[in-house]
Amino acid sequence: MRKKVVAGNWKMNKNLNEAIQLVSELKNELSNFEPNCEVIVCPPFTNLESVNTIIKDSKIHLGAQNMYFEDSGAFTGEISADMLLSVGVEYVIVGHSERRAIFKETDEVINLKLKQAFKKDLKPILCVGETLEQRESGEMKSVIKSQVTGALKEIPASDISKMILAYEPVWAIGTGKTATPEQAQEVHKFIRELISELYDETTAENLTIQYGGSVKPANAASLLSQPDIDGALVGGACLQAQSFVEIIKSA
Ligand code: 13P
Repeated sequence: MRKKVVAGNWKMNKNLNEAIQLVSELKNELSNFEPNCEVIVCPPFTNLESVNTIIKDSKIHLGAQNMYFEDSGAFTGEISADMLLSVGVEYVIVGHSERRAIFKETDEVINLKLKQAFKKDLKPILCVGETLEQRESGEMKSVIKSQVTGALKEIPASDISKMILAYEPVWAIGTGKTATPEQAQEVHKFIRELISELYDETTAENLTIQYGGSVKPANAASLLSQPDIDGALVGGACLQAQSFVEIIKSA
């Protein structure tokens, strides 16, 4: 059985006080029931240490939104894997579409970041997804395939078992336009088959594949009931404890 994972990507939201308030509320809510999934929060770098102190003895796991692929040195403005580990980070989002589009991250860079994460024992959440233009011109599968194969170049099956993959169609991120459960399921199944081709069936069957893109309390249950959708990577709806908890309950 694959584990279901619900992660909240806070993006560039919440200052320190707001972060403490949100994660305290979340911790409090989660102490009232036993979630049927793993719960991860990915706050901005500046909040990681304080958030970690609050969630230490809770069911909540800590993730970062990005990191650099070098160990240390003259890389002004970047954050290393060791820095993340030193403040209790367990997961790291790699290759988010906003990093690809706004910060021009290539599959090559994403591949280096994944290798660095595995080397340092951080668990990556690798994001892939097509734009509306690519979907409408019939390129969706070839785009997903090249993102997955590019990111996973030279990465062994033993590492795949430590990571999470997230399918996030770019046209559904922050737009309120969710992929239908059937649309998402089709791509998740395609990704799992691709992993099976690149590695083997067991590796593919065990891989948690999250869906991300306008996941809300109202649509989470139908998305998460699809056979190949193993969780959610939530943006906007994770910024309020109540709506994030409702999505966790749907899982
Ligand atoms: P929204 O849930 O705001 O669409 O964001 C999804 C996302 O990008 C999560 O990484």
